[in-house]
Amino acid sequence: MNTPLTILCIASYEKGHAFLRQCKASGARVFLLTSLSLKDKAQWPTDSIDELFYMPDEDHAWNREHTLHAVAHLCRNHIIDRLVPLDDFDLELAAFLREHLRIPGMGETTTRYFRDKLAMRMKAQEKGLNIPEFVPIINHQRVNEYLDRVPGPWVLKPRMLAGAIGIKKVHTKQEAWDKINSLGDQQSYYLLERFVPGDIFHVDSIVYENKLVYAVASEYGKPPLDVSQSGDIFTTRLMLRGSEREQAVRAKNAQVLPSLGLVRGVSHTEFIVANEDGKVYFLETSARVGGAHIADLIEAGTGINMWAEWAKVELAGGKAPYSPPEAKEDYAGLLVSLAKQQWPDLSAYNDPEVVWRMNREHHAGLIVKSPDFARITELLEQYRNRFREDFWAMLPARDKPTH
Ligand SMILES: Nc1ncnc2c1ncn2[C@@H]1O[C@H](COP(=O)(O)OP(=O)(O)O)[C@@H](O)[C@H]1O
Ligand SMILES: [Mg+2]
Repeated sequence: MNTPLTILCIASYEKGHAFLRQCKASGARVFLLTSLSLKDKAQWPTDSIDELFYMPDEDHAWNREHTLHAVAHLCRNHIIDRLVPLDDFDLELAAFLREHLRIPGMGETTTRYFRDKLAMRMKAQEKGLNIPEFVPIINHQRVNEYLDRVPGPWVLKPRMLAGAIGIKKVHTKQEAWDKINSLGDQQSYYLLERFVPGDIFHVDSIVYENKLVYAVASEYGKPPLDVSQSGDIFTTRLMLRGSEREQAVRAKNAQVLPSLGLVRGVSHTEFIVANEDGKVYFLETSARVGGAHIADLIEAGTGINMWAEWAKVELAGGKAPYSPPEAKEDYAGLLVSLAKQQWPDLSAYNDPEVVWRMNREHHAGLIVKSPDFARITELLEQYRNRFREDFWAMLPARDKPTH
């Protein structure tokens, strides 16, 4: 290899250790720019980081102009070949820096389709994808026409957040307007869409040079909105390979990603399979690794670490060939719950299928793995009930991101 590539990773939250490790293992020079508030808390894999830089932050938010000046300063003495955001909230900042400093990678226009739920809906609609009817909260006459035309209930949702934060279900036109009015100047940051009752799925993908080179489909237990509103236990598991539903959501995923213009990277994309008509609706997409330990779930079932593959894809950069490793065909399931104990004891969950236990204050979580799909289904059901007895704690739904 000639001079090693230099990659600058941006992380306002602690994320993506496997990404950093893979970059180093692939021979890159690794810079990490992260929040100053994490300085004494984060456990970054420092062996894989050549230089660590800090940005002063207010609750993990960085001043854009100051960040640009800091990165431009770095560029005076270094050639940055790649710039990659590790957290979803860093995507726009990364695109803005790439555009200004002319660093290759996803620019601001495409980034919008993977961050802004309104932009991704408008694009999906233009491409003829099946999506719940929606309206931006921009023109009030249009909102009124929409509420008269499209039957409720609806969800009022923030365009740029994640984890079901800030999503409100509304049942009447009056309720919708009351909620919109209470948003004041923030209302244009929201959209309204038809609530489609159904099951929620996610497909996690690797894309290289516009080609979907790997995808794995999973099914959430209860819909994430119900989980966040009732504070219930979060579960998801890999779908039965070759089943009709698995094929249907994967087929839809294969339409969505090229439609939205992802050239290379990873994506976590969600779908609703409607109770009423069994059709697959596009719910949302992103250009990042799935959160909430979904990457660990996928690694357990397939042996593929999405963070590491993302690093390889970024470094290959369209200039070198890339293909994903051969995937194992096991099944896996994930459970996460808030816990009333500070450090819940998971040692009684000792079936041989348990391959991972969560290590986080006031959380209980684990991953089970088996070649047998039915066994995973059974274990998730059993463990969900036991979690309710052993750990479960209910907290009100969040209005603000907390990581
Ligand atoms: N149109 C909808 N119909 C039914 N459920 C929805 C709809 N939109 C959102 N939800 C529920 O809210 C959750 C979060 O919505 P989503 O658009 O995926 O935003 P987030 O980025 O917060 O995950 C979904 O997983 C689902 O449970
Ligand atoms: Mg979602």
